[in-house]
Parts: sequence; C-alpha cells; structure tokens
Amino acid sequence: MKAIRVHQFGGPETLVTEDLAVPNPGNGEALVRLEAIGVNFIDIYQRMGLYRSALPFTLGNEGAGVVEETGPGAGEVSAGDRVAYAGTLGSYAEYAIVPFSRLVKLPAGIDAGTAAAAMLQGMTAHYLTHSTYPLKPGEVCLVHAAAGGVGLLLVQMARRRGARVIGTVSTQGKAELARAFGADEVILYTSQDFEIEVRRLTGGKGVQVVYDSVGRTTFEKSLNCLAPRGYLVLYGQSSGPVPPFDPQILNAKGGLFLTRPSLGQYTATREELLWRANDVLGWAASGELKIRIGARFPLSEAAEAHRQLSGRKTTGKVLLTP
Ligand SMILES: NC(=O)c1ccc[n+]([C@@H]2O[C@H](COP(=O)([O-])OP(=O)(O)OC[C@H]3O[C@@H](n4cnc5c(N)ncnc54)[C@H](OP(=O)(O)O)[C@@H]3O)[C@@H](O)[C@H]2O)c1
Repeated sequence: MKAIRVHQFGGPETLVTEDLAVPNPGNGEALVRLEAIGVNFIDIYQRMGLYRSALPFTLGNEGAGVVEETGPGAGEVSAGDRVAYAGTLGSYAEYAIVPFSRLVKLPAGIDAGTAAAAMLQGMTAHYLTHSTYPLKPGEVCLVHAAAGGVGLLLVQMARRRGARVIGTVSTQGKAELARAFGADEVILYTSQDFEIEVRRLTGGKGVQVVYDSVGRTTFEKSLNCLAPRGYLVLYGQSSGPVPPFDPQILNAKGGLFLTRPSLGQYTATREELLWRANDVLGWAASGELKIRIGARFPLSEAAEAHRQLSGRKTTGKVLLTP
C-alpha cells in the first residue's frame, strides 16, 4: 500500500510516499480501507516535530472507510462496516490499523468524505462549546480563524447553543464564508484591531469566552476581550506557541480562567467518544451541520495540502483521497 511517511522532522518536503505491506490487525484492532483522509493542523505540528512521535512514522490522525478485516477480541465492528475515526496516528495511507475502541460506525446517508471532514474538527467544536465552556443562550463568544476547519464548525455549534458569535478571519472572502455559516459579526484581524472591535461590538462589556486556536499572535489581546471571570480557551497555536505567562495577569484582568485542552481528554471514554461523534455525524447526515470541504488532494500530494493549510490558503476541511 502507499503511505506518506516522516523520516525526519521538517517542512512539507520531508513527506515521502512509500510502498509498505498492508498491516495485519492485532488483538482489539481493525484494518480499515480508507476512502477519505482528514488533514489537520496537528499533522503539521507532528511533521515539524513540535509534537514528537518516534521516527519513522506514517502521518495522519483521521479517516473514514470500510472495515476490511478484524483482529481477535470483542468489538462493535465487523468486516464490511462503514466507519470513521480520529486521534489514531497513521491515516495518510491506503489502509490503517485502528483500535475497535476508536471506531465509530457511520449513520446512513453520510459519505466517507463528509465523515472524514467532520470527525476530528467536529468533535473538537463539540467539546469546546458543550464541555470546556458550555455556552448558554445570550452569551457572546469570540472565535478566531472562524473560516477554518474547526472555525466553521465552532461558529455553527455556538449559534446552535444560542450564543452570539463574533469571528475573526484574515480576508474578505473568509469573512463572507464565516457569515454564511452563522457568524453574527466578523472582524478582519489582519487589518483591524480585534480587541478594539470586540469592545465596540459588546458595548465595552467583553465576551464570556474566547476560543483561540491561533496562539502567539492573538493570545494577549484575547485576554483583553474577556468580560470579568471570562474564559480563554486556548486550543491551538497555528501562528506559533504562546510564550511563558505570569498567572497574576489573570487576576489583574478580572479573575479570568485559562485552559489548554485537547480532544483526547474529551473523548477519553467510549461513552464520551460516541456522544460527540454521534451528535456530529448525525447533524452532518441530517444537514443541520454544514460540512465545507474546501480542498481535496490525492494522497501523493499531501505536501501541497500542508503548504496550503499552513499558508492560510484553505477554508473549511482539507481532505486527501487514497
Ligand atoms: N486542542 C484540540 O483539541 C484541537 C483539535 C483540533 C484542532 N486544534 C487546533 O485548531 C487550530 C485549527 O485547526 P484546523 O485544522 O481547523 O486549521 P484551520 O483553522 O483550517 O487553519 C488554520 C487557520 O489559522 C489561521 N491563522 C492565523 N495565523 C496563522 C499563521 N501564522 N499561520 C497559519 N495559520 C494562521 C488561518 O486563518 P485566517 O487566514 O483566517 O487567519 C488559518 O486558515 C489549529 O491550531 C489546531 O492545532 C486543536
């Protein structure tokens, strides 16, 4: 089978296509023939070595396809089932080995591309809006990178919970997209001061929560956008890591809360994984949640997909096709 491998950490040019033997599923594992592969920002961090995996490895954390074969052990899936998963390394390939415990069966009426586009970023938007800071009707949230993969899903789920959504994006085209997906107001944070704009849009009060995946370039002003006792949910670092931080600042700025969560912590049990995945896939299947696939590349062009994602050229989901 073809697989995209990392032998040394670095830029997109370090991704190499290799021929590997199709692996055999072990105890509690399934062999999945992938039909669609999700590209996520975490793939870029792992390729660069910002998040370390033992070299060499097959990149990719998300996919959807058909169970080809199951290993020994009890599980909810069998050969022929249509499935999707997120959070198991090795999906940039034609086949992947996935533990039964991470696989979710697809509901009727959802294709593999939509499922691979919805799983990782959809469950992320789900835990951010339902669990990390459970939004209540009438509250105001700020969503950075609102036209991105997580961004467009976060905007929709925040609206679904009855919140008013202010988004930030880098271009007019992305602003139109974020509005079309439900953002009430959109700020061009590349040409406008988003702190001043948020203060203006909230009558000086600030927002209850900032969902910040951009990190280094937004972190400090994100704190300044919060109402007293507001939450800064820092869940990514697309612009780079946030430098060391004095917690006394949280006191000085109004008794603020800061958290740095990851999807794994919010899908730690089978029950929690199924709650989030079934909500996301169910809403996607019924059309309640719009899934935008902004770009598709053949598996062999994974490096180009990375260039476009890290170069802020993409909107919504980026997929690879094996
Ligand atoms: N903690 C978790 O559980 C979790 C799970 C999933 C994703 N994430 C994080 O969420 C973020 C979004 O992931 P995604 O896969 O959906 O990507 P994405 O949002 O589709 O792409 C990243 C976006 O970040 C914005 N950005 C701002 N400054 C940037 C810079 N210097 N370089 C690159 N991009 C910049 C760009 O939007 P504009 O052009 O509009 O600025 C860009 O399109 C990532 O930081 C990722 O690590 C975290």
